[in-house]
Amino acid sequence: MIVPGYGLAVAKAQYVVAELVDELRKAGKKVGFGIHPVAGRMPGQLNVLLAEAGVPYDIVYELDECNDDFADTDVSIVLGASDTVNSGALDDPNSPIAGMPVLRVWDAETTIAFKRSMGSTGYAGVANPTFYKENTQMLLGDAKDTASALLESLPREGKDYVRLSLMRAGELMRLHADDRARWLLKRLEGAHAECSEAALWRDALDGTRRGRFA
Ligand code: TAP
Repeated sequence: MIVPGYGLAVAKAQYVVAELVDELRKAGKKVGFGIHPVAGRMPGQLNVLLAEAGVPYDIVYELDECNDDFADTDVSIVLGASDTVNSGALDDPNSPIAGMPVLRVWDAETTIAFKRSMGSTGYAGVANPTFYKENTQMLLGDAKDTASALLESLPREGKDYVRLSLMRAGELMRLHADDRARWLLKRLEGAHAECSEAALWRDALDGTRRGRFA
């Protein structure tokens, strides 16, 4: 279960996260998004961002729909959220956000939290004990960079990988027709000799002699 917050919007990570989720689902994993009613900085912000990135509506859950499911969840991923997953809201009567309903990500077997540093807090300015729990692992860095690195590291063999990379190269060619597409096609040729389109496309791209970037 992925719990996105304001940090996903700051990082503009919705597209890469949507792609990551798509890959996980293709690999047979059950993935959902848990959305807190005040996640982000405006009502419905995270729902809009996920919809924009093509995340199917039926895997996006509201707090009441998914909070009890964390106990049966292998991994919860906190993606740029803090106040909305702050266990202090339930455990610490002196917390400024005591009593606020929060997503109980820590009930999952493992929690992995994406944020840039341990020193900062969320909007409410309150430290978050969730990040210090024994079953929490911190993945520090910009959420988009981290999600991109994870996506790259997924073992994507055979036709799916080729199809996905060709789609990406096609998109890059359409948008830029420059070295970004050239690089991707070259990599694809090297890794998948059976992918004859990659060589043809790169020849066509080289013919244009356009858009080199350093
Ligand atoms: P927050 O509690 O604001 O936490 C945001 C988290 O994102 C922080 O942990 C921050 O840590 C991380 N972050 C920021 N930029 C990042 C990046 N580029 N990559 C990775 N992580 C990044 O977010 P939330 O959980 O969504 O809670 C929303 C808060 O806003 C609530 O307190 C809510 O009451 C308040 N609020 C909501 C609204 C509405 S209507 N939604 C309106 C006003 C206020 P780092 O800085 O360490 O990265």
